[in-house]
Amino acid sequence: MNNVVTQKKVFLETYGCQMNEYDSELVRSILKKENYEFVTDEFKADIVMLNTCAIREHAHRKVYGRVHNIRNARGEDSPVMIGILGCMATNLRQELLEDRSLKIDFIAGPDSYKRLPQLINEAFDEGQKSYDITLSEFETYSDIYPSGEDRDKHETKSRVNAWIAVMRGCNNFCTFCVVPYTRGRERSRSPENVVEEVRRLAGEGYKQITLLGQNVNSYRYDDYDFAYLMDEVSKVDGIERIRFSSPHPKDFPDRFLDLMAENPKICKHIHLPLQAGNNRILDMMNRTYTNEEFLMLADKIKKKIPGVALSTDIIVGFPTETDNEFDDTLEVVKKVEFNVAFMFKYSERQGTIATKKYPDDVAPAIKTERITRLIELQREITYKKNKELVGSIQTVLLEPYPEAKNTNQMPGRTDGNVLVILPLGDYKGGDLIQVNITDATPHALKAMPIKNTCNFLPTPAFKG
Ligand code: 5AD
Ligand code: SF4
Repeated sequence: MNNVVTQKKVFLETYGCQMNEYDSELVRSILKKENYEFVTDEFKADIVMLNTCAIREHAHRKVYGRVHNIRNARGEDSPVMIGILGCMATNLRQELLEDRSLKIDFIAGPDSYKRLPQLINEAFDEGQKSYDITLSEFETYSDIYPSGEDRDKHETKSRVNAWIAVMRGCNNFCTFCVVPYTRGRERSRSPENVVEEVRRLAGEGYKQITLLGQNVNSYRYDDYDFAYLMDEVSKVDGIERIRFSSPHPKDFPDRFLDLMAENPKICKHIHLPLQAGNNRILDMMNRTYTNEEFLMLADKIKKKIPGVALSTDIIVGFPTETDNEFDDTLEVVKKVEFNVAFMFKYSERQGTIATKKYPDDVAPAIKTERITRLIELQREITYKKNKELVGSIQTVLLEPYPEAKNTNQMPGRTDGNVLVILPLGDYKGGDLIQVNITDATPHALKAMPIKNTCNFLPTPAFKG
C-alpha cells in the first residue's frame, strides 16, 4: 500500500489495561507490515494515535484534553493526523466525530485494527473522516504476532514477562462496567494457536507468560476450557511461570483449582474481584454470586492451594449503598485477607445499565470516607501478609534492572506476585533464584539471595 518514499511516521500512546498494551503491539505489527515507521518523538510523527481506555473515571475528559494538547503543540497549520483507537473509540464515536474542535481524523475500535491501513489511507488520501468501530464475534487476531521489538522495549531489553491475549470480550454485563459494550462478546483463540505463540516467546527467551482476557477464565474453544489451556501452556519448555488476568469468581471449577495446586509452573496467585460484600448491592451489580458464595470460594481456594495469594477489585459507593451495606464489604475484606486490593469509587460509565437505571446518589464525601477506611484496612492487611513472609524462603523471578533509576537494588516477584527487593548480585532479569526474606514494608519485601551470589556495591545509593 504505502511505498518507501512516503513512509509515514506514527507515534502511538497507550492508556489503560494490559490488554491495551497488547493491542498496541498488534497495531505496531499490522502497520509495520505496511511500511509505517514508529517514532518515540510525537513532534516527528505524521500520525498520532491514542489507544484509549474507557474503564477509568474521566477517561473521555483525558482523551479530549490530550487531543487539544497535541493540536495546540503542533500548531493550527500542522498536517498531523490524529486517530483514536480502543475502548473510547467504540463508546464515543458520535461525539468524537461531531466535535469539530477535536479534529479527529480516524477512529478504530478494538476489533478493527486490521483495517487501520485502509482507514488511515482514506483519511490521508481522501481527506475524509474514517472510522470502523464494528465489534466482531470472531476477531481474535490469532494470525498476528505482536511486534517483538516493542515487547523488548517494554521489557527494557531483558525478556522476562510476555502477555498473551487468549480471549477477548465479556458476556457478563456487570451493571457498572463498560467493557461488554466497548469490547463486545467473548471469543477465544484455539489452544494450538496460543501454545504456538508461547513457544515463539520461550524461544525468544521469555520466562513468564501472563494469559490475558477481559474474563480470562471463561476461556472456551470447542471443548477446551481454561484449565486445559493453562496445562498446555505449562508444557512449553523454557517457560518457568504462568499467570493470568483477569478472572471472574463464577468460573473456578475444582478441576482448575486442583491443576493450580499441582502444577508448579502456575503461580499460586488468584485475582478474585469482590466488587462489593453486600448481597443487595452484588445483585444490583449483577455479579451472580452472594457474599456467602464468595467467602466459600475464597475458603476453598485457600484449602486447595496452601499459601495462595489473593488480590481483588472493590467498588465503594455504588448507587444506594448504605453505611451498613458498606460495612459488609469491610467484613469480607477482614475475613478473606486479600494480599492486595485495587479500590475504586463508583462513577458512571456511558452506556452501562447502572448509568441508565440507578442515579449516582452516594455523595462524593461519603465515597471518599468509605474508600479511605477501606484503604486503611487493606494497608494493614497487606502489611500483615508481607510480615508473615519474613524468615521464609521464596523463589523469586527477577525483573529487568530498572536502568533509569540507577539504583543498587534489583526487583523481583514471589510466586504470589509480591514485590521483592534484593541487593545487586551476579544475577539478572529473568533469573529464578531462591531468597531469604529478611524484612517487610507495607508494599514490598526485602531479601537476600540464598546462594553466595551477592555482589555488594558500596555506593551511597545502596540501601541493602
Ligand atoms: N466505577 C468504579 N469502578 C469501576 N470499575 C469498573 N467499572 C467501574 C465503575 N463504573 C472497576 C472494577 C473493575 C476494575 C477494573 O475497575 O472494580 O474490576
Ligand atoms: Fe466488566 Fe469484568 Fe463484569 Fe465483564 S466480568 S462486565 S469485564 S467487571
